[in-house]
Amino acid sequence: MRRWVRLLVFVTAFAMVAAACGGDDTSDTTAGGGSDATTTTAGGGDATTTTEAMTDDELIVGVSWNNYNEERWAKSDEPAIQAALAAAGATYISTDAGSSVEQQLADIEQLISQGADALIVLAQDGTAVLPGVQSALDQGIPVIAYDRLIENPGALYITFDNVEVGRMQARVIFDLVPAGNYVFIKGNSADANADFLRGGQQEILQAAIDAGDIVNVGESYTDNWDPAVAQTNMEQFLTVNDNNVDAVVASNDGMAGGVVAALEAQGLAGIVPVSGQDGDAAALNRVALGTQSVSVWKDARELGAAAGAAAAELAAGTALSSVAGTVQFDSPGGNSMTSILLAPIPITQANLDVVVDAGWITTDALCQGVEAGSVPVC
Ligand code: GAL
Repeated sequence: MRRWVRLLVFVTAFAMVAAACGGDDTSDTTAGGGSDATTTTAGGGDATTTTEAMTDDELIVGVSWNNYNEERWAKSDEPAIQAALAAAGATYISTDAGSSVEQQLADIEQLISQGADALIVLAQDGTAVLPGVQSALDQGIPVIAYDRLIENPGALYITFDNVEVGRMQARVIFDLVPAGNYVFIKGNSADANADFLRGGQQEILQAAIDAGDIVNVGESYTDNWDPAVAQTNMEQFLTVNDNNVDAVVASNDGMAGGVVAALEAQGLAGIVPVSGQDGDAAALNRVALGTQSVSVWKDARELGAAAGAAAAELAAGTALSSVAGTVQFDSPGGNSMTSILLAPIPITQANLDVVVDAGWITTDALCQGVEAGSVPVC
């Protein structure tokens, strides 16, 4: 019955939107063509009339994105989710919160009123989003915390091992600079990944810091992982330290771009090692060029595929604990989260062939401006 009521709400909402004709940037794409021939009543066993059984055949998964500024979401994660849902015969609907906490809460309500049987949420702020997630769960709508932790054990947490990403970043930088002045450019403080990464970095560097070999000469969070903010922060750290910075542990590729721009202005690009994460095209090109030392690659296509498949299962009524491939993850907030944790891969000049062979990037994009023969793949 619950889904039947929601369908009516959706029809009404749709009519209102159609009448208003526009303005809303919600992309509402039918990935699976709505012709789900398989079983499934999401609410369980309520197919009492033919009409109701037919409506219950259509599974809808709503994705709440926090924003599209970051290259990966629209380019890799979203198509993979859409493909997985299409394969499961489920329909994809989505919203984009444009980095606004309030908008994301409204978006979640909107996805529910559009009939979502499961939600995938990329949280702008893991704490602020909690009431929206609880509201969905209270209505029997399963939620996937996508890529970023949401501290509600009722949600399925699907991500990469973010602490390991941090370790991988620090290992590469530490190999290159075992002693010296380090700067840490961290991610958005409202995103749990920022501290997971920083924790992994610290694990690798702690002994050298304790020994006085490595000195932390600058550390900052970066609002919304914004490259421009990262650049400004890096400029300030260079100024304060009279350019005596030997290494930069930057937590993702977008911010690494800002850091490299700041280094470039001081003639230090390619001299001071910089880390990153995500396998952004520009970052992999910087790795080939030698201005970035590592991009920890998280194949977002795998993450999207895992989330899409799990969302379709959950929407069809599968219990969290029955989703394939889950482990328990102990969160900083003391929750035991049912999780799927994928493995990241550090990409340096030595193994750029990995991302090319995986079809992640073309050699044209990777090798732009790179002197032929200076790295194996170019
Ligand atoms: C993080 C994510 C990173 C990065 C960043 C920017 O949560 O783990 O891969 O993309 O968001 O939005």
